[in-house]
Amino acid sequence: MIKQESKNLHSKFHGKFQPIGVFDSGLGGLTVVRAIQKKLPLETIVYFGDTARIPYGNKSPEVIIKYSQQIIRFLETKNVKYIVVACNTSTAWALKHLMRTSNVPVLGVINPGACKAVKTTKNGRIGVIGTLGTVNSHAYQKSIQQISSKIVLKEIPCPLFVPLVEEGMYSGNIVCHIAKNYLRQLIQFRIDTLVLGCTHYPLLKSVLQKVVGKGVTIIDSADETAAVLKIKLEEFGLLSHQKRADNYFVSDFLTQQFQRLAQQFLRQKIQHIQKIDIDKY
Ligand code: DGL
Repeated sequence: MIKQESKNLHSKFHGKFQPIGVFDSGLGGLTVVRAIQKKLPLETIVYFGDTARIPYGNKSPEVIIKYSQQIIRFLETKNVKYIVVACNTSTAWALKHLMRTSNVPVLGVINPGACKAVKTTKNGRIGVIGTLGTVNSHAYQKSIQQISSKIVLKEIPCPLFVPLVEEGMYSGNIVCHIAKNYLRQLIQFRIDTLVLGCTHYPLLKSVLQKVVGKGVTIIDSADETAAVLKIKLEEFGLLSHQKRADNYFVSDFLTQQFQRLAQQFLRQKIQHIQKIDIDKY
């Protein structure tokens, strides 16, 4: 990865003050933006949410790769110095392709989350929850077992969690009941660490913690990704010292729902949002 990054960095000059591109299948990736804003307050962000084509979680790898490549081409037109793939499903299926084809270095959310989980577990039993696509790719399993082959892992798809979050349902009996059903196998498997392998799941964290119990540490890859991004930018002398206005782009736009969701994920109102035709890229 370092090799690819340095190749890209040398092939094209990337100035410190260029923005960081972040993308997701929708607005869930704003949890990663929030983590970056906290960790790197002087960086400027260009965000793209593929709100017209969400969800990616139940789409084929070919389609996810095609969509992700289009988004990378769009972000490159914004002169970004680094791209963060905030979407777990996109990271799972497209990251390798994007790293090969992008003109700027690309960072996904899976490796940072996997590293943190390995550092956290004491009994070597980790659970991962994500979309169908992420779980079917076994990207977390590969990543975790590359770090430590002794760790045992169970991955469970939780397809109902994304629509629940999109509907603003983060707690209550229905959510709790569904969470208990999904997580039962992980509790029986005696995990001590649970990775939230999806942009939307951090919003369900308190319910999930209640269901798995206090003895299980929950890992949110957003914070870890921001921490790795900081290390990479430092390593390449690309840290910015001057913040400019962040820019938000989407492929579809429904004013009320958009603002509600954006506020939930980012914990602040987004002032300027532009709709673009992603099919042009
Ligand atoms: N952003 C997706 C992920 O993190 C969840 C939503 C979707 O299915 O597109 O996997």
